[in-house]
Amino acid sequence: MTTTAWRADPYADALRTGRGPLFLRRDDGWLLPLEVERWCEEPDSADRSVLARCGHRVLDIGCGPGRLVAALTSDGRRTLGIDVNPEAVSRTERTGGAALCRSVFEELPEEGRWDTALLIDGNIGIGGDPARLLRRLRRIVSRTGRVLAECAPVDVDERCEVRVDDGRGGRGEPFPWARMGVRALSDQAAATGWSVSDGWTAAGRSFLSLVPQPSVPTRR
Ligand SMILES: C[S@@+](CC[C@H](N)C(=O)[O-])C[C@H]1O[C@@H](n2cnc3c(N)ncnc32)[C@H](O)[C@@H]1O
Repeated sequence: MTTTAWRADPYADALRTGRGPLFLRRDDGWLLPLEVERWCEEPDSADRSVLARCGHRVLDIGCGPGRLVAALTSDGRRTLGIDVNPEAVSRTERTGGAALCRSVFEELPEEGRWDTALLIDGNIGIGGDPARLLRRLRRIVSRTGRVLAECAPVDVDERCEVRVDDGRGGRGEPFPWARMGVRALSDQAAATGWSVSDGWTAAGRSFLSLVPQPSVPTRR
């Protein structure tokens, strides 16, 4: 399943060294490169465009080695990273951020009170079911909060099974994943209680800001 697969050795090894190559491999052999080196560096200009849109209390979901958590923390924001990979959590803590080894689908601290939830570097794919993840986020983010989500750079709407692959024969267990471009994510957001409040591109990466749709008052 998803959570144990991301704990697998090829991913943990890459986080330990801060280096790839590393891929998500589909059964048909298609490879999606994972940018481990970039994840282990300081935030780049695209990351900074995300950080500039964050509120005060930020939950980074699937924080990886924690560059965003560290930057937000040093900027005085109350930030927590969550990740199912213990090496990701240790690295985040070593960079000065707070992190919890926990799945987004488990109970989390301060549910309903986060100003911003981040789904960066393809993390809309977590769990392989974006509708489930977006519904879960309605319970995590405050009524005035937002989700900042990175979209695939192409017009895609895909659910698939993948493995982490180091390109040298090391492979983890299969787990479900998803990829969504701007159009697919906008449609899925609308169907799960979110409105698109902003969309932008930076350094070739695409992002959407999602805010909760107002609840429909119930009739008496
Ligand atoms: C594509 S990587 C994103 C890396 C990260 N954003 C960064 O800056 O390095 C996906 C991350 O999500 C984590 N993950 C996978 N399933 C998860 C879950 N159910 N809950 C929380 N994190 C999860 C993985 O361990 C991995 O670190």
